[in-house]
Amino acid sequence: MTLRAYNISDLRELARCRLPKGLFEFVDRGAEDEVSLRNNRAALDRIRLRPRTLVDVSQRSQEITLFGQRQKMPIAIAPTGAAGIMWHDGEIALARAAAAAGIPFSLATASMTAMDAIAEQAGGRLWFQLYMYADRSLSHGLARRAASIGYEALLVTVDSPVFSNREYNLRNGFTIPISFTVRNTLDVLAHPRWLVSVLMRYVLTTGLPLYANYPEEVKRKIKAQPMGRALPLNDSLTWDDVRALRELWPGKLVLKGVLHPQDAVKAAHYGVDGVIVSNHGGRVLDGAMATVEVLPEFVAAAGKRITVIVDSGFRRGADVVKALALGASAVLVGRSTLYGVAADGEAGAARAITIFREEIDRVLALLGCPGVAELSPDYLTVPPSGAG
Ligand SMILES: Cc1cc2nc3c(=O)[nH]c(=O)nc-3n(C[C@H](O)[C@H](O)[C@H](O)COP(=O)(O)O)c2cc1C
Repeated sequence: MTLRAYNISDLRELARCRLPKGLFEFVDRGAEDEVSLRNNRAALDRIRLRPRTLVDVSQRSQEITLFGQRQKMPIAIAPTGAAGIMWHDGEIALARAAAAAGIPFSLATASMTAMDAIAEQAGGRLWFQLYMYADRSLSHGLARRAASIGYEALLVTVDSPVFSNREYNLRNGFTIPISFTVRNTLDVLAHPRWLVSVLMRYVLTTGLPLYANYPEEVKRKIKAQPMGRALPLNDSLTWDDVRALRELWPGKLVLKGVLHPQDAVKAAHYGVDGVIVSNHGGRVLDGAMATVEVLPEFVAAAGKRITVIVDSGFRRGADVVKALALGASAVLVGRSTLYGVAADGEAGAARAITIFREEIDRVLALLGCPGVAELSPDYLTVPPSGAG
């Protein structure tokens, strides 16, 4: 271990030191008063583990089958826009760490690296996250490109019809393309390692980072927008769009950002393969419920017809174990690996994944559970939703 990071919180601290404050807050914080952000953690912490004893746990396994494929660990990397600005070629670093660990990597529409460069330079199991432009044909074009490159799954984000309210991003003044104000220039100068190893490196090679996957007509028109505000959002999306995507996307179709179990039932009806129960890591609708609070209802309502994945707030192996015990097929991690990549590139992302692997393994042993396949709600005590 080269990094002095024993847990995800250590990686977060390393990222905090390295990144300009405006970028760190973009990664770290949540919408409005951050009620959902805090509750994501509180809800996970409220669930208690109920261990069994005198069980042979010497052959522990955390292998799962996700969308018909075996993988060594029950996590995947969530799509995070602008990951490429946390580290030079940060998205390639994340994808390589995922490929080495045998877990899927999700590339965001708003990434800095082109989808074909990820496939060429990292390989592994790749998923593509799609935001829908108002002109749907632009998004359909992106999906077709991803399919032709061999991306396995399309994650359609459905929780963001409008921009979310994150006032610190407006205050901090970071934009893509990068524009310079007194405030953010002082912030960058106070973080010379990021300035030299990320920003200068981009300037001296490919130029200031931009959204590499946006269609040409969008790229031409793009103006500097605060972090999180240059996304292709669409407030008229309906189930008809899901039907159209189902017709054009040959691989696994996944809806990302559902919180009502009836939406999973409906998704199954439209031929969707999976849902990601997510409140976007507390970044979108402040006050939205935590995902583990609603997860059991999803599993009961649609778990037999559709793959149920979960994210938002997962920082420890024990958190992952809790979600799997509640019936999730896998967990997406967003900030955890993003802190890692901001701290030390591919090695930092790999460190985050290793931390999860070791923690999951240890928790299984201490829980008296031989493998993630054997997990069930019997290993937990879950307070009623909303209990303090
Ligand atoms: C910096 C950042 C950027 C994100 N960008 C996107 C995005 O472009 N599209 C998307 O569907 N989700 C995005 N997300 C949400 C993640 O995919 C995921 O739902 C969330 O990070 C999970 O919570 P966690 O960070 O607590 O693990 C982003 C999250 C972060 C932290």
